[in-house]
Order: sequence, then C-alpha cells, then structure tokens
Amino acid sequence: MTTPNKTDVAIGIDIGGTGIKGAVVDLASGELLSDRVKIATPEGGKPKDIVGVVTKILEKLTDAPKDAPIGICFPAVVRNGRTMSAANVSKKWIGLEAEALFEDALGRDIVFVNDADAAGYAEVRFGAAKDRKGLILLTTLGTGIGTAIIYNGMLVPNAELGHLQIDGGDYELQAAYSAKEREDLSWSKWAERLQKYYTELEKLFSPDLFIVGGGVSKSYEEFLPLLDLTTEIVPAALRNNAGILGAAALAAQPRGNEGSVESPVEHPAAQL
Ligand code: BGC
Repeated sequence: MTTPNKTDVAIGIDIGGTGIKGAVVDLASGELLSDRVKIATPEGGKPKDIVGVVTKILEKLTDAPKDAPIGICFPAVVRNGRTMSAANVSKKWIGLEAEALFEDALGRDIVFVNDADAAGYAEVRFGAAKDRKGLILLTTLGTGIGTAIIYNGMLVPNAELGHLQIDGGDYELQAAYSAKEREDLSWSKWAERLQKYYTELEKLFSPDLFIVGGGVSKSYEEFLPLLDLTTEIVPAALRNNAGILGAAALAAQPRGNEGSVESPVEHPAAQL
C-alpha cells in the first residue's frame, strides 16, 4: 500500500484485562488501515510486561508512518498521564506515571487515556454518538464496565460509573460481561442485572441515549431487547474497535486538547 502521511493517520492501542490490540487508523473515515494485531494481556497485568507487549504490537504495525501519533487507552482513571486506579490490572499501576513509562520505553511521545473515554470519543467522532445532542452515556461491557459521559459532543473524562454501589457492592462485579461468563449466566439472567444497572443510571443522570459497547455488543440482539428503559439504548457502532479508534483520534488532537482527557475534548466533527 502507499504509506499515508502523518496527519491522516494515527496508531491506536487498546489495553484490556484479557487482550491488548492495536491498529493503524485512518482519521478521516475512522477505518482501520492495517490488520488488528492482538496479543493476550500478560498474566498479572504488570506495567513492565504490558509495555513489552505494546512494543511488540507497534513493531508489527509496519504500515504506519514512523512519526504517526500513538494513542494508548487503558482500563483505569488516567489523570495527566498518570494511572490512578487498577480494577482489573496489577495494583502496581496505581499512581504510576504511565504515559512517561511508555514514552521512555518507546523513545517518543504518546497520549495515554482511559479506555472507555477513548471508546466514547470514537463513538462521538465516527459512530453512534455522531451528530447527537444531549447527554449520552456510553458503557462498555467487558472484563469490567467502562463508562464515558458525553454532553453535546463533549467528553467529560474519567467517569467510573461501572463501580456504582448497587445491592451493597461494586456492580461491575455483577453486571460486566465477565460476570456472565464467570457465572455462566443465560442472556435473560444477565439482562436482569443490566436492567438494574441501566435503571440506576437513568435515575441518576436522565440521559438522552445509552450506547452499549465492548466485545459483547456484537450480540446486542440477545440482550438489548430484554431491557425495559425509558431511555433509547443502542449498540456501539464501532463495536470492539472503539478503543483503538478513540485512542488514535485523541493522539492526533493538538497538544493541550488531545485528551489527556484532563480538560474536555472536542473535535470539529463533534461540535453539535
Ligand atoms: C475501570 C475503568 C475502565 C473499565 C473498563 C473498570 O474496572 O475502573 O477505568 O474504564 O473497567 O475497562
């Protein structure tokens, strides 16, 4: 293929509890320009091991221009490039200067953001939240529950609504897709838990739209019709690629607004 130039293209890497995946992204169309490279998350999810896997993935993405921006998203609160929590990865991430750690290992700048924020941003720019006004809550149902709050196309970073306390406990342990798998729940049993979760979100936020992402969103017909909500609820358009796309798109934002997601991020396409 012809190597595209830097401004059109960025690399997105999505670090998850079970897998780490990356691809080269066309920022105009939101399409992947390369195969998606996926490697299992190393046992224990320790920083050094994850940096090693990310380095390997980048080595395989040979189609990207050498200086294409790199965005990495991660399942934790990320403030100023520092990881502040670690629900499904090693506790060694808590308080770590994660962005700097990757920059030192790779010898170049990167942008490091929360995974659900990246997914939310991708849906605003390329997917189900594009051209939608009002308050949108994106949830990703995977190892944990990730959430992004989007208001009139602006992302409010680091919402951790997967950890809402419902029935006396952290509800992602009950309602994430990993709970369905771990407890071998039928779609309808799992949907009962999702019903409780989205009803609580409805009560607290009165959103205009729910977007449901994560790998399981490809099977949305099995569980979304079982939910009885007043709020419209739709599957993520970008399915499991949203993290990659959003991380890549955020990395290409001008510095200062690129979504260390410290300040709200926006893109002309998201100006509603
Ligand atoms: C983490 C979030 C993350 C979500 C999805 C949760 O356990 O606290 O930061 O976005 O999982 O990976």
